Amino acid sequence: MTYDFDTPVDRRDTDSQKWQKYAGRDILPLWVADMDFRAAPEVLAALHARIDHGVFGYARPTRSTIDAVAGAMRARYGWTIEPSWLVWLPGLVVGLNVAVRACAQPGEAVLCTPPVYPPFMTAPSHQGRQVTTAPLALDVAAHRWEIDWPALENTVTPRTKLFFLCNPHNPVARVFHRDELARLAEFCLRHDLVLCSDEIHCDLILDDLLHVPAATLGSEIARRTITLMAPSKTYNLPGLGTSLAIIPDSELRTRFLRATAGIVAEVNCLGYAACEAAYGRGEPWRRALLAYLRGNRAFLLDFAARELPGVQIEAPIEATYLAWLNVAALGFKDPVAHFEKHGVGLSDGRHFGAQPGSYLRLNFGCPRATLSEALSRMKRAVADR
Ligand SMILES: Cc1ncc(COP(=O)(O)O)c(C=O)c1O
Repeated sequence: MTYDFDTPVDRRDTDSQKWQKYAGRDILPLWVADMDFRAAPEVLAALHARIDHGVFGYARPTRSTIDAVAGAMRARYGWTIEPSWLVWLPGLVVGLNVAVRACAQPGEAVLCTPPVYPPFMTAPSHQGRQVTTAPLALDVAAHRWEIDWPALENTVTPRTKLFFLCNPHNPVARVFHRDELARLAEFCLRHDLVLCSDEIHCDLILDDLLHVPAATLGSEIARRTITLMAPSKTYNLPGLGTSLAIIPDSELRTRFLRATAGIVAEVNCLGYAACEAAYGRGEPWRRALLAYLRGNRAFLLDFAARELPGVQIEAPIEATYLAWLNVAALGFKDPVAHFEKHGVGLSDGRHFGAQPGSYLRLNFGCPRATLSEALSRMKRAVADR
């Protein structure tokens, strides 16, 4: 079967957050991380069938839904998970906040490595906990974002209880290697930290690299790991609010569940139907998507190198459909506003922990024609200095 990623779907005047932001303005939205593609036909068929059933009561995952998740983990990562390890959540950001409540007391700290997805830094403060940061370091010669090990050791204190890992990493698009993850696991064990590993982008690896779920590194680290996963980014289903935490250790799982009590909504029947179809029957679509995203990545890298002087993509985009652009050389005080003025909506790197005016994040999960038009507008924006 061939899948069509090229034909634009008009999302203007719909419920789309991404497009509503610029309603009535000629600005192409390449900001929030959802893609402008229709979901896989296999997922749409499952949703149609579920709607045709016509009864939408409170839902629980069926055995076949759990089997689809477990089957994907086994097939893709050699990870055998028990059904009892799964905690279903209406979103991964919910999972980050719950992990904070479960693993750190008020006043205790959560450690993360910016630049990073903003809720990694806001969840601790929302929950009355501290956030401490050990920024990633760009190895300019190697073109790689690296964990800054000395900074980690200098930042961790006895009050630090939780480490937030983003792998693959949003926004720098790195896939951490097994040896780096093993070193991180050793760090967490030595400092008695729970490891909360957000692996939402793990099925979106563009290069020939392996995703290693942190919990597969060994039984000791598995016992203190909360893995957050979802079909949402890969299969473009984030509006269906279906995510999961995978927590092998029963005591840690109980703590996590206790922190959800009374405040975390249940996943709904459409979310379960879509999740089962995505993990169970969505593999051909996912492979086609990855090929399309590789094409978009190549187009972006080529265009940026030739036509966007002052915009630097400093390291390979190994995974995700997100590009982290260094725009400091452009010297714009407010680069987001400048690019909006020229018709492109990007995410401000400031929210990810970057210096004001230094970085933007660009979402290339859209038809190539949209990307091409956005990049042409960016070229005009760059020229207008
Ligand atoms: C690393 C990461 N975690 C979590 C999320 C959001 O997850 P959810 O929509 O399930 O809350 C995103 C969305 O971009 C993300 O990039």
